[in-house]
Amino acid sequence: MDTLFSVFLGLLLLCSIVGNVSGQIPTGSCTFDEGFSQCDYQQDPYDDFDWTHINTQELPYVSPHLPQGSYMYVDVSQYDVGEKARFQLPVMKENDTHCIDFNYLLSSPDGSSPGTLNVLVKVNKGPLANPIWNVTSYTGKEWLRAELAVSTFWPNEYQVIFEAEVSDSKAGFIAIDDIQVLSYPCDKSPHFLRLGDVEVNAGQNATFQCIATGRDTSNNKLWLQRRNGEDIPVALTKNINHRRFAASFHLKEVTNQDQDLYRCVTQSERGSGVSNFAALIVREPPHPIAPPQLLGVGPTYLLIQLNANSIFGDGPIILKEVEYRMTSGSWTETHAVNSPNYKLWHLDPDTEYEIRVLLTRPGEGGTGKPGPPLITRTKCAEPMRTPKRLKIAETRSRLIAVDWESLGYNITRCHTFNVTICYHYMTANDRSKADCLDMDPKAPRHLVGNLPPYTNVSLKMILTNPEGRKESDETIIQTDEDVPGPVPSQSLKATPSEETISLSWKEPTEPNGVIIQYEISYSGVHSFDPSVPLQRPGLTVSLPSNASHHMFSQLHPGVTYQLSIRASTSKGFGPATTLNVTTNISAPTIDEYDGQEAFLNETATTITVLLKPAQAKGAPISAYQIVVEEVNPQRTRRQASSDCYQVPVSYHSASSGGSPYYYAAQLSPSNLPEPLPFTVGDNKTYQGFWNPPLAPRKNYNIYLQAVSSTERETKTQCLRLAAKRATEEPEVIPDPAKQTDRVVKIAGISAGVLVFILLVLVAILLVKKRKLAKKRKDAIGTTRQEMTHMVNAMDRSYADQSTLHGEDPMAVTFMDSHNYNNRCRFIKSRFYKQKTLN
Ligand SMILES: *[C@@H]1O[C@H](CO)[C@@H](O)[C@H](O)[C@H]1NC(C)=O
Ligand SMILES: *[C@@H]1O[C@H](CO)[C@@H](O)[C@H](O)[C@H]1NC(C)=O
Ligand SMILES: *[C@@H]1O[C@H](CO)[C@@H](O)[C@H](O)[C@H]1NC(C)=O
Ligand SMILES: *[C@@H]1O[C@H](CO)[C@@H](O)[C@H](O)[C@H]1NC(C)=O
Ligand SMILES: *[C@@H]1O[C@H](CO)[C@@H](O)[C@H](O)[C@H]1NC(C)=O
Ligand SMILES: *[C@@H]1O[C@H](CO)[C@@H](O)[C@H](O)[C@H]1NC(C)=O
Ligand SMILES: *[C@@H]1O[C@H](CO)[C@@H](O)[C@H](O)[C@H]1NC(C)=O
Ligand SMILES: *[C@@H]1O[C@H](CO)[C@@H](O)[C@H](O)[C@H]1NC(C)=O
Ligand SMILES: *[C@@H]1O[C@H](CO)[C@@H](O)[C@H](O)[C@H]1NC(C)=O
Ligand SMILES: *[C@@H]1O[C@H](CO)[C@@H](O)[C@H](O)[C@H]1NC(C)=O
Ligand SMILES: *[C@@H]1O[C@H](CO)[C@@H](O)[C@H](O)[C@H]1NC(C)=O
Repeated sequence: MDTLFSVFLGLLLLCSIVGNVSGQIPTGSCTFDEGFSQCDYQQDPYDDFDWTHINTQELPYVSPHLPQGSYMYVDVSQYDVGEKARFQLPVMKENDTHCIDFNYLLSSPDGSSPGTLNVLVKVNKGPLANPIWNVTSYTGKEWLRAELAVSTFWPNEYQVIFEAEVSDSKAGFIAIDDIQVLSYPCDKSPHFLRLGDVEVNAGQNATFQCIATGRDTSNNKLWLQRRNGEDIPVALTKNINHRRFAASFHLKEVTNQDQDLYRCVTQSERGSGVSNFAALIVREPPHPIAPPQLLGVGPTYLLIQLNANSIFGDGPIILKEVEYRMTSGSWTETHAVNSPNYKLWHLDPDTEYEIRVLLTRPGEGGTGKPGPPLITRTKCAEPMRTPKRLKIAETRSRLIAVDWESLGYNITRCHTFNVTICYHYMTANDRSKADCLDMDPKAPRHLVGNLPPYTNVSLKMILTNPEGRKESDETIIQTDEDVPGPVPSQSLKATPSEETISLSWKEPTEPNGVIIQYEISYSGVHSFDPSVPLQRPGLTVSLPSNASHHMFSQLHPGVTYQLSIRASTSKGFGPATTLNVTTNISAPTIDEYDGQEAFLNETATTITVLLKPAQAKGAPISAYQIVVEEVNPQRTRRQASSDCYQVPVSYHSASSGGSPYYYAAQLSPSNLPEPLPFTVGDNKTYQGFWNPPLAPRKNYNIYLQAVSSTERETKTQCLRLAAKRATEEPEVIPDPAKQTDRVVKIAGISAGVLVFILLVLVAILLVKKRKLAKKRKDAIGTTRQEMTHMVNAMDRSYADQSTLHGEDPMAVTFMDSHNYNNRCRFIKSRFYKQKTLN
């Protein structure tokens, strides 16, 4: 029964084969019944050994581990481990879904694996990829059937290759039979739908998704086969419906190296499905070759040209962006740009920026790395504002120290800037002075020096950068006081007299503050008279600030005083200005004579007088002169001279020139160390002056004159020592005055009564006038009259003296020569005694 059934089956099988052979057997099918050569198959010439065709019916002995029939097989016992044998089917260019199936077996005497049977599918004459199907395990002596669902279609072509690889087993067989290309889908192996190319940007994850017909069964192996590399395991399978499932494969962060052909392979014991090769195209995101170009620059903007025509990487470019940042900063900003030029706004002035261009191609991760940077700097901007506060840190008399808030970049808006302090003020002489000082902007404090003290100084600060300048408001600061400058020496005016100096001055040209006081110190530094002790140390007077003159009194005549005047402010005294002033010398004083001390004796032609040395006052006595004055009562007296008898007149000059006096002698002070008698008229010559005998008929006054002299001035004192009366009657020369007297006498008798009445009236008038004069005399007469210049006063006092003399004709009058005037006369008389007039 079994046998019958087998025979029936065998017949059926035979019939079907015959049917196929006789019908449309697609290219590539082969039963190996006619041997290998009939099959249009090829042994691989590049493998290690060849598959062998076997027909068991033609062999006397066949291993019991081989089935009966005509088929291809490999006896592994004849080859070394790892050796391979391949034969290939013809190239297939199918238009429709088709299936390839075949019989196979791997058997061995001991049940171990004889090696591996691999099926490879080579596409478009490309390289051999990994097997799409393989079997290693021992399968037994019975044929197993497997299907290959190869989804590569016209115009692509493929070739199926069977490969036997020898393992280390000592014996065994790998056999293939009945390869058929069927024009209908496989039953057991899934067919893949067309696998599309995947284009992805470098660095992205790529996903291949294979959709296959049939159900995914868990015993199916499923992978993505790379043509030239490692397999990629399935990430996810998903049944779409009962006839389809999808399998996803992920390639992580692909690079250029991943660019290849990939196909999906599913494998089970009963066959394999393999998709077409799809390309993984890895695109390099673009980036510019060159940095952007700078077209324009301002304080807050940069105009650039993207310069993105030349790129590295792949296009197309769908987005251009500008990425910029401060070189020193950390943030980055990106702006999309759709024109060739772009202006970056709102930048910081004087700041370095780094600008790059970003290019984007389609697809995720299509943005390339930034291009090379343009590193550029914005221009400076005008300073924001002036420094807010100008703080005066310190004020001294000639210096102002200024502080200010630190000048941050946010104010200067430029990293290079200058700080200048400008100041102006009015000088003491109302001239405007201004200057500017460049300051070190880093310094926290700035000094403005060389200023005048006690002056309102106007200060301002100027901030300059290359783009502009800003000035602060003016700050007015008064510098501190300082010690004043010197009193200008030209302003010092000193008017000396004998015992006083009147000094006037003006304020220092540089008061340097408020003058508080003046201080004048004075001391005698030199005297004409060596006997005068100099005042040392000097004296000092302090005067209020409004003083501009001072009278120094109780000084010595003929002394040079050094006056030092200095002014002071609250800061102290300034330098002194000194001036030497010499007081006027005084005329020498001649000591009073007691009674008739001066008169010693006389002859007809001489008179001997006692000379006493005079006292110097201010300057030493330079000479004594004995002056003889002829008294002519008939003649009017000479005009009083204010300088005694200063003009030296010799006897001869006097007699010829009509001078009323002459110098009878001149003596040097050494000639008169002590009181000495001197005879006037002794017919001798003293220092060029002849002392001739006196005329006995004439009346004379004899004077002693003492002279003090300096380079600048000469002061003279004179004293009448005696008067000499004529010892003989004058020659009969009718004196007009006497004649007048006679005429008066003669006429007096006749006109007596009238004259008497007139005299009475005159007498009354005289009495009145005398009383008036006496009053004046009382006032002046007590003072010794040394001064030679008070002419009027002296004149008046002489009038008094003359009245005294009128009462006492014997009186001798001492007086200064200038006391004489035309109103005064000596009563003609002989002088018997001398009297001091007080
Ligand atoms: C597939 O189709 C193309 C064009 O339609 C044809 O030239 C080719 O012969 C066909 N191939 C098969 C195997 O039928
Ligand atoms: C089939 O070949 C793959 C490599 O392509 C290998 O990993 C696998 O183990 C093989 N399977 C068998 C049964 O030999
Ligand atoms: C790629 O996938 C991995 C996880 O599989 C993920 O961590 C990574 O972020 C992905 N990369 C990109 C560029 O999406
Ligand atoms: C300038 O910056 C400083 C700190 O650097 C800050 O104290 C000051 O307030 C800023 N001034 C302005 C006007 O922004
Ligand atoms: C400076 O100015 C102030 C205010 O105007 C004034 O009171 C002061 O007297 C001035 N000082 C000087 C030295 O001129
Ligand atoms: C700052 O001062 C220097 C030296 O005086 C000068 O050379 C420079 O031009 C000045 N800068 C500005 C911004 O004024
Ligand atoms: C003092 O002497 C000077 C000459 O040195 C003279 O000009 C001046 O008049 C004199 N003054 C007095 C008061 O004598
Ligand atoms: C100087 O000032 C004082 C008051 O301080 C005053 O009494 C005096 O008269 C003034 N002198 C002059 C010369 O103005
Ligand atoms: C004043 O006199 C003294 C002493 O003779 C002399 O040293 C000084 O230089 C003189 N000063 C002036 C200003 O003439
Ligand atoms: C006058 O007096 C002087 C001095 O006493 C004397 O030397 C002289 O002889 C006297 N002459 C006569 C004439 O007595
Ligand atoms: C005065 O002296 C001169 C000579 O020097 C002499 O000739 C003359 O006679 C003298 N006269 C008298 C009066 O003695």
